[in-house]
Formats: sequence, structure tokens, C-alpha cells
Amino acid sequence: MPKFNAESFSDFVASRRTTRDFLPTPVPQELIDTLLTDAMTAPSWSNTRPYLVATAQGEVRDRISKEFLARWEQASKALGGGFLAKAKLFVTRYGLPTSDYKVNRVYPKVLQPRSARVGAELYALLGIDRKDQKARQAQWARNYEFFGAPVSFFIFTHSGLGEYSVSDAGLFMQNLMLSAHAHGLGTCAQGASAVWADAVRKEFEVPEGYKLLCGIALGYPSDHKVNGFNADRLPISDIKLKNK
Ligand SMILES: Cc1cc2nc3c(=O)[nH]c(=O)nc-3n(C[C@H](O)[C@H](O)[C@H](O)COP(=O)(O)O)c2cc1C
Repeated sequence: MPKFNAESFSDFVASRRTTRDFLPTPVPQELIDTLLTDAMTAPSWSNTRPYLVATAQGEVRDRISKEFLARWEQASKALGGGFLAKAKLFVTRYGLPTSDYKVNRVYPKVLQPRSARVGAELYALLGIDRKDQKARQAQWARNYEFFGAPVSFFIFTHSGLGEYSVSDAGLFMQNLMLSAHAHGLGTCAQGASAVWADAVRKEFEVPEGYKLLCGIALGYPSDHKVNGFNADRLPISDIKLKNK
């Protein structure tokens, strides 16, 4: 068993942060394959690896981004608009979610403050007023250009294993994101990339039974201030159950 430095591991995992602004610099295919190989060392339910990964780059990436942005434009008009904009969305259905999993959920009461905090702190860093709906929507729209990343992964999970597929995909994703970090790359896991699953399916051969869980934007981080954002990390006392 090789010896590893536990202290430097702690520093390493703590130093990974979500990247939300990327350089257009391409990521070599060999490096992408290294990340995927590292990701495949994650544990998996009965070693089934119940997930598939689509890698969007170049024209495919651009087409998906264009489609996402067009749908978001319709959806955001309806969200912020009056009766007519909402009626148009429901009549044309263009912009309505076509996700395999429910992406937009109401947060449970116990979790909502954590989500609100990260949102408030991120917008504060970017100088966006919480009440400025337009600026908030424009920032959210950056999801749909993958924050400028040249690569977007789309993670599909087999519905037959239910929650355990999703859990396995999470382990895979974390390995992938840590490997990217080790190679000087940045990542952003994106639930936003799973809202319009049909736009992704149009570009890849997805076998029956697989559902789109999430995207991961990948590329080299820019020096934009958003990449200096440090989301709060809860103390372990907040997640430890007490004895009865
Ligand atoms: C499954 C999943 C989906 C996410 N979706 C998004 C997203 O759509 N857009 C985004 O900007 N960040 C997204 N994030 C990033 C989280 O907001 C981020 O991980 C969290 O705030 C903690 O920050 P850190 O990754 O810098 O530690 C997602 C993270 C996960 C794990």
C-alpha cells in the first residue's frame, strides 16, 4: 500500500471550489480521458457503474448552449413577465422543463437557509442586488453557456437502480471534479444543465433506461472574482446526529 500524506489530502480537498468563469482554452482529449479514468475508481453499488457520460465540446457544446439559452429566454420572460408571457410559455411549451429528474424543487424548511445564504453571498460578491431580478437572471443565464467552459459533461444514471444509481454518479462526479482540480482545471456541477434533457438527448445516443442527472462544466478557471467565492462550509457539528 503506497503511503499518502493525509494532511496534504485535507488541504487539497478543501481547496477545491466551484468555478463559474472559464477561459476558452481547450482541454486536451487525453486529459479528459485521464479525468474519466480517475472518476471510474470511485466505489459503486455491486460494481455496476450505473451511469453514462456524454462529453460536449466544440460544435455540439455550442449547439446545446444555444438551445439552452433560447429556452431560458422564453422561461425567464414568463417568470418575470405578466399573463401574456406566461400564457405563451404554456401554449408553445418551449422553455418548459423537460428534465428526467425534478430539478427545481421547493427547499425543505431546514435546508432553505443554507441555500439562501450561498445565493446571497454569491450575489453580494458580484455586486448584484437580491431584488434586481434582471441582473440575477442574467447571472443565472451564464449556466447555459457553461460559464464559458469549453467542455460540458452530462451525467446519465440508470433508472433501474434508483437512488443508488444517483449516489454512484455522485461519487463518480466527485472523483472527476477532484481529478480536474489536481490537474489545474476548474469544474462546476450544474443541475441547471439537466433542465432540458431532450436538448441533450438530441446530440447523443442515450440507451433506454438512462436519465439525465446533472452536468459538469470543465475548463481552465479565469481570474474573474467569482472564482474567488468561498461558499460557507458547515462545521461537522451541524451534521452529527445526537444519541437518544
Ligand atoms: C449536484 C449539484 C448541482 C449543482 N448545480 C449548480 C448549478 O446549476 N449552478 C451553479 O452555479 N452551481 C451549481 N452547483 C454548485 C454548488 O452551488 C456548490 O457546490 C456549493 O455552493 C458549494 O460550493 P463549492 O463547490 O465552491 O464548495 C451544484 C452542485 C452540485 C453538487
